[in-house]
Order: sequence, then structure tokens, then C-alpha cells
Amino acid sequence: MTLAIETTALTRYYDDLCAVDHLSLSVNNEIFALLGPNGSGKTTTVLMLTTLLHPTTGTATVCGHNITTEAGQVRNCISYVPQDMAVDIRLTGRENVHLFAKLYGVKNPKDRTDEVLAVMELTDRADDLIKTYSGGMRRRLELAQALVHEPEVLFLDEPTLGLDVAARKKIWEHIRGLRQKGMTIFVTTHYMDEADQFCDRVGIISNGKIAALGSPEELKARLMKDVITVRIEGQYPDHPVDAVSYVGQSGDEVTFTAENGSEALPHLAKTLESRGVRVHAIDLHEPTLDDVFLQAVGPQEEPHGFSDAKFRIMLRRRK
Ligand SMILES: Nc1ncnc2c1ncn2[C@@H]1O[C@H](COP(=O)(O)OP(=O)(O)OP(=O)(O)O)[C@@H](O)[C@H]1O
Ligand SMILES: [Mg+2]
Repeated sequence: MTLAIETTALTRYYDDLCAVDHLSLSVNNEIFALLGPNGSGKTTTVLMLTTLLHPTTGTATVCGHNITTEAGQVRNCISYVPQDMAVDIRLTGRENVHLFAKLYGVKNPKDRTDEVLAVMELTDRADDLIKTYSGGMRRRLELAQALVHEPEVLFLDEPTLGLDVAARKKIWEHIRGLRQKGMTIFVTTHYMDEADQFCDRVGIISNGKIAALGSPEELKARLMKDVITVRIEGQYPDHPVDAVSYVGQSGDEVTFTAENGSEALPHLAKTLESRGVRVHAIDLHEPTLDDVFLQAVGPQEEPHGFSDAKFRIMLRRRK
């Protein structure tokens, strides 16, 4: 069977810096998300798979074609929407897509342009200049442009970055629709909730290496524990506390796992108090992809979202 994407020890150096380190992955008939902190190697991976950057060592095939020796064949069966904008804002939406349809030698470029604009719900605004589009509309236009030659594999680098919640949801609805039509989609994102909700499998990449790989459900189940997050003042003094395991601190939020969270929580609160740690909030919840990410990659600079309540204990009901 030919897999949509298969990489074997794919590696890329920029001078001495190893941006992607022996990446071995198979992706087929799914929405696959590559998650990772800034600079972890996501875009470098996508650039190699789309033939825009040579690997230093290792190999990969896309639609069965070698990315180095059969780059032309790879390009014929993929589309790529880069992290930065890929449309000419001085053209109208229709002109932009039509240009791509012609570049790709699509049979009926005019009809196909109308078709993909309709799929992305842009027919009404097709004759307006792109510079008058909202961010979400531009992203949908880039998708329309990418779909014009009916690719088998679609690469999307941060497709929802900077969009509001409604626009992000709409983009994902379209991506899911493409998946249902049989397309393989390789996406990078920083948004854990989106990866959890919309992707079939995720790979968490850290310093160019895969740190965790599986479906969001599998990865969360692997933690197999309750998660307790505590908002504190200052740095957590990493002293062991009975019945919980320390995972890490991100901003003012410290994460622990526990076999039985509701039993461990009062004990943890008491222990922290006795050690003079000022606790502003404690939250017990089932593992999320954020927790998986924290465990796989370690704390990041951006703090996780949390309520502003001064002191509050929230016990989310287990599903
Ligand atoms: N052209 C380049 N020359 C030198 N170093 C580079 C180049 N492109 C990327 N890097 C470095 O390679 C590493 C991986 O970068 P990459 O852009 O792949 O990360 P990323 O995961 O896509 O990050 P982000 O989430 O910020 O988009 C980083 O340390 C980056 O600084
Ligand atoms: Mg990137």
C-alpha cells in the first residue's frame, strides 16, 4: 500500500543547528497535526515534505514519490498553504484562484475556480480585492487556491493562527470536509484544543524530535491519571508531595498528576500551605492535550488560560 506520507530518519541541519532530528512518521488518510513549541521544527518538516527544502540526511516519500529525487511528482499530488500569507492581495479572490488553476494546467480553469470558491463559501466576495477580506476569508481563499488541482495530500502550516474563534471553527469545518472526501491533511498548529477536537492523530515535536505520537484520546489515556493544576505565586519549590507527581510549571500554573485526584487534592492544598506556597486556585480535571504537551515538551513561556478568580477550587465533573 502506498502511504500518503512516510518519513525515515528525516533530518535537517541549518549549519550546526539540528532543526529536525531523525523524524520517522507514517501519515495516511487522516488529519495529522504536528504540534510543538516555537522553533521545534514544524515548518522545517513541512518545507522538506513539500520539496522546498532538502533534507540533510534521511528520506521521505509523499504519495509514494521520493521528496528529493522525484520532487516534480510530489508537487503534482500535493498542495501547501504556508504559515505566512500565500495570496496576492492586489488581485480579487477569483483572479487569484484562476491564476493558480491555469498554472496547474487544470482542465476547465474557470469552472474549477467557481467550484472551489463555492466550496470555501467565497462566491459572494469572489470579485472583491483580497485586501478587503478578513483574516478568516483570506485563509479560506488560500485553501480554495490550494484545492484547485485536487491534491491528494494537503499541507497546512498554522492554518488558524491569528483568527478569531468563529473563523477558526469554520476553517476546521472545511478541513474536516476535505478529510471526508478522502484527502490526507498534514497540519501544524499551536492550538491544543483544535488538535484535540479535529485531528485524528497528533505528533508532538520538541527540538526536532517526536516526543509523543498517537490519537489525542490515546495520548490523554496514557497519562491515565487525574490532573491537578495549581495557580501559585512565584516559583514552585519542587519538593515531593505524597499521592501526586509534579509535571511542570508554566507561568504561574503548576501541574501535577494523581491516581485519584479528588483524594489527593485536599492533601496537596494542605501540604502547599504548610510549605508557605501562596495558592490562588486549584483545578482538578481529566487530562487534556495541554497536559500531554506539558509532560512531553516541558513548560513553555506562554501561560495556559485560567480563570482570574482570586481563590477558587473547581472540581470539574468527570465525564
Ligand atoms: N532558514 C533558516 N536558517 C537558519 N535557521 C533556521 C532557518 N529556518 C529555521 N531555522 C531554525 O530552525 C529551528 C526550527 O525552525 P522552524 O521554523 O522549523 O520551527 P517551527 O516549529 O515551525 O516554529 P514556529 O512555531 O515558530 O513556526 C529554529 O531554531 C529556527 O530558528
Ligand atoms: Mg513554523
